[in-house]
Amino acid sequence: MDYNKLVAVLLLFFSSFLLVRTSMAASNYNVVRFGAKPDGRTDSTKAFLGAWQAACRSAASVTVTVPRGSFLLKPVQFRGPCRSRITFQIYGTIVAPSDYRGLGNSGSWILFVKVNRISINGGTLDARGASFWACRKSGKSCPAGARSMTFNWANDVVISGLKSINSQATHLVINSCNNVIVRKIKLMAPDQSPNTDGLHVQGSAGVTVIDSTFQTGDDCISIGPGTRNLYMSKLNCGPGHGISIGSLGRDANEAGVQNITLVNSVFSGSDNGVRIKTWARKSTGFVRNVLFQNLVMKNVRNPIIVDQNYCPTHQGCPKQGSGVKISQIVYRNIKGTSRTQQALTFDCSRSNPCQAIRLHDIKLTFNGRSATSTCKNIKGAKAGVVMPQGCL
Ligand SMILES: *[C@@H]1O[C@H](CO)[C@@H](O)[C@H](O)[C@H]1NC(C)=O
Repeated sequence: MDYNKLVAVLLLFFSSFLLVRTSMAASNYNVVRFGAKPDGRTDSTKAFLGAWQAACRSAASVTVTVPRGSFLLKPVQFRGPCRSRITFQIYGTIVAPSDYRGLGNSGSWILFVKVNRISINGGTLDARGASFWACRKSGKSCPAGARSMTFNWANDVVISGLKSINSQATHLVINSCNNVIVRKIKLMAPDQSPNTDGLHVQGSAGVTVIDSTFQTGDDCISIGPGTRNLYMSKLNCGPGHGISIGSLGRDANEAGVQNITLVNSVFSGSDNGVRIKTWARKSTGFVRNVLFQNLVMKNVRNPIIVDQNYCPTHQGCPKQGSGVKISQIVYRNIKGTSRTQQALTFDCSRSNPCQAIRLHDIKLTFNGRSATSTCKNIKGAKAGVVMPQGCL
């Protein structure tokens, strides 16, 4: 091959390579180009949906950018399946309509359905829940309220650097999803805002939650039926109701919860630390293989609690044992202060006692002295220092 031919072949090779590279490169859809207005007043729902539809059709991975500014969104559904990975890169704030009825009846505000390979990066969601909470407190009839961001039947999800404030109901819901990473998120609502859970996970497998802060009026994290392989680390919880497995066993036929890990986390001024809560009625549900390790409790009302006698309206459950079978729960290296004298509560089911509970290096104090414990229907073992004593 002579020199010129070689150059021509090489050029052809590299230019086609470049061409392929360019067409594969992530394209970028800015919601402003689709008509969104960063003024916090103009309804940008259609523009966001337009950008989503374009992104969803793209064969190459795409970024949908939400620039600085404030964008008003009404309840919206981003539906898949889409052809490639989509990243929502959010620099600004997404706000809900100022009138709470604008979200209140929809159940969810920002909803992702059947989307695979989706990332949410950065941004703030402000559901402006205050007037909704006020309605609820007044005792008037109010709409049910909306969750701020929900993922239903989504796989390979990354939520990173997102902040959500003032949700009407739960901030973030992961429902029937697989392989989800949640990191560096911040979910905040005032202490007294009713039912503003932070994160709710259910029917999902392989969810990781790390480096995140939850300051809410209800559970920091609630873990519902059918959750498997959930890993949580480096979390800050409080104010709020703590991290709760349950309520479970509401339904007679219910999927169990298994392989749950919570490590290296701090609870500050929360109502509960780690809680397992089940209805006092028949159920096929279970909780097994749970590790709570390296936790610090600061002025927490119930640092460690299992409550299997939940029956809020005293209807359909009084005097029944919970059917939810709790076993293989390990509590290791949990230290700090309790706001009430009783720091350790195991109120397990009469008909299905808690099995294989392990307490290992627990040190919880109340007013500078050892706290107390109450244990019913519990079997297992303890090791190391366990303070308060009295269980196992
Ligand atoms: C339990 O969950 C962890 C994630 O916390 C996962 O790595 C592990 O494979 C799971 N174990 C089983 C038996 O599924």
